[in-house]
Amino acid sequence: MNTPTQRGRFITLEGGEGAGKSTNAAYIARRLEASGIRLHQTREPGGTALGEQIRTLLLDPSQQTMHADTELLLMFAARAQHLNEVILPALQAGDWVLCDRFTDATYAYQGGGRGIDMQRIAELEAWVQQGFQPDMTLLFDLPVETGLARAGERGALDRFEQEQKAFFSAVRETYLQRAAQYPGRFRIIDAGRELPEVQHQLDKLVDELLAMQHSPDGGQSR
Ligand SMILES: Nc1ncnc2c1ncn2[C@@H]1O[C@H](COP(=O)(O)OP(=O)(O)OP(=O)(O)O)[C@@H](O)[C@H]1O
Ligand SMILES: [Mg+2]
Repeated sequence: MNTPTQRGRFITLEGGEGAGKSTNAAYIARRLEASGIRLHQTREPGGTALGEQIRTLLLDPSQQTMHADTELLLMFAARAQHLNEVILPALQAGDWVLCDRFTDATYAYQGGGRGIDMQRIAELEAWVQQGFQPDMTLLFDLPVETGLARAGERGALDRFEQEQKAFFSAVRETYLQRAAQYPGRFRIIDAGRELPEVQHQLDKLVDELLAMQHSPDGGQSR
């Protein structure tokens, strides 16, 4: 008798601009793959051909008239495509998925930053995800100024990076509130430190992730 394939794990990376998500995604991926895990690395908004076109619209600084509701709906439109085309099939096949930003970012940016009622975001989340949640979320937390200084060195600012400090402070606060609300899923990384220190913190979390490899399914199959 065939044993059913165990569903893969879904790991998300969250945090403000310049927090080190993209830098450390590669580090986490290397360690997971070295343990024999088949890993898909992806990002939001985006992750599919359609989603990347939506991303271009969302980040385009010339889109000065985009309504906050439009922004929110575009985020979830890209997410619906990403979930159904990439994330869920990969997990079903037993692969793991490491995603640079997911729905916590929508709460932080469109909820905290733009001021959209969290309940409206929750309604879209329920509609698109039907209860589906990450198995673990790594929150790269750091002072807003530190992150902006790092991100600023990259060159031209996207539509979100052009926001004011109050916006990014609200983003950070919302992320921390969500981490406090869902302590089972969130792990907070002190991302303002030097890279070797950040990666030392990540080493322990990767060990925790690897321990999930052989544990029973978290009951998240959909
Ligand atoms: N711990 C660190 N100390 C100093 N610089 C860092 C550290 N981590 C990352 N950086 C640098 O900061 C910049 C931003 O990092 P990165 O692009 O990984 O952030 P991000 O979280 O992906 O940002 P964004 O949300 O804007 O995509 C990069 O130039 C990166 O090399
Ligand atoms: Mg990045």
